[in-house]
Amino acid sequence: MKPPFTPLNDANGSPESWAAFAKAFRDPAQPLPESWASLFGPLRAGGKDAMTVIGQIGQSLDGRIATETGHSHYINGPAGILHLHRLRALVDAVVIGVGTAIADDPLLTVRRCEGPHPTRVVLDPKGRLAAHAKVFGCDGVRRLLVTADETRCAPPDGVEVVTLPAPDGRIAPRDVLAALAARGLRRILIEGGADTVSRFLAAGCLDRLHVMVAPIILGSGRASFILPPVARADEALRVPMRTFRLDDETLFDIDLSAQRVPLGIANMST
Ligand SMILES: NC(=O)c1ccc[n+]([C@@H]2O[C@H](COP(=O)([O-])OP(=O)(O)OC[C@H]3O[C@@H](n4cnc5c(N)ncnc54)[C@H](OP(=O)(O)O)[C@@H]3O)[C@@H](O)[C@H]2O)c1
Repeated sequence: MKPPFTPLNDANGSPESWAAFAKAFRDPAQPLPESWASLFGPLRAGGKDAMTVIGQIGQSLDGRIATETGHSHYINGPAGILHLHRLRALVDAVVIGVGTAIADDPLLTVRRCEGPHPTRVVLDPKGRLAAHAKVFGCDGVRRLLVTADETRCAPPDGVEVVTLPAPDGRIAPRDVLAALAARGLRRILIEGGADTVSRFLAAGCLDRLHVMVAPIILGSGRASFILPPVARADEALRVPMRTFRLDDETLFDIDLSAQRVPLGIANMST
């Protein structure tokens, strides 16, 4: 019988080994090491089309991603943070909402392991993010600001501005993904916060969701998901799910392929 938790950390290896894994991961001809194939194999190729979209949430046992004041450094311990950095190294782009960019001022680079830094994307429909935000930092990594058609933004030089329709201030997640695909970005990590991940989830725009649960109880704070209410428990979204052990944390790997909408994005010829 399979153990309830598949150990992940016994195959950690050195940081260098993750750079090698990230390279093999991008080459469909390369088999993945068995120890990693189970968890990361499903992220390799899109099931519905030529994109793979992964959401991630790091939360407490009671389903909070931050305290009431918005503090979230760090809900997860070293193993959970390492997993997040590994995910970053495997994707073309990391997407965050402006709420996270303002609250955390994250770098979104790969630092806990070795591997390529992903393109950084901020969803900021009203142009609220200050030009000195770290996510805009000029470090050789591509940076995109996605905003509403009518919004005037002045990000630092080198930041690509993508404007999209935003009726009622809301940009359709599928429009965001189409815009990223048009720029050659096909494997996408929606890193947070709750509002942004929830919008992609509600729109059927996630292939998988990684929820890392830390053994802490915050008691109050910001919920992991903000979704339209359902009247009855049996109307809840029931999803296929596996669990992996990350030291004292548990990773829930959720398969959302059944409700993922096709994005109508053509395969790349290269
Ligand atoms: N534990 C974790 O895994 C984790 C990860 C990331 C962040 N966090 C925490 O989460 C908190 C921030 O999360 P949050 O939920 O408040 O905010 P958020 O998701 O980071 O940002 C939400 C904002 O981004 C913009 N946005 C995102 N998607 C959009 C779309 N499709 N269309 C239009 N606008 C869109 C909107 O900006 P406007 O308001 O300008 O319209 C929206 O209000 C912080 O406390 C942070 O520390 C925790």
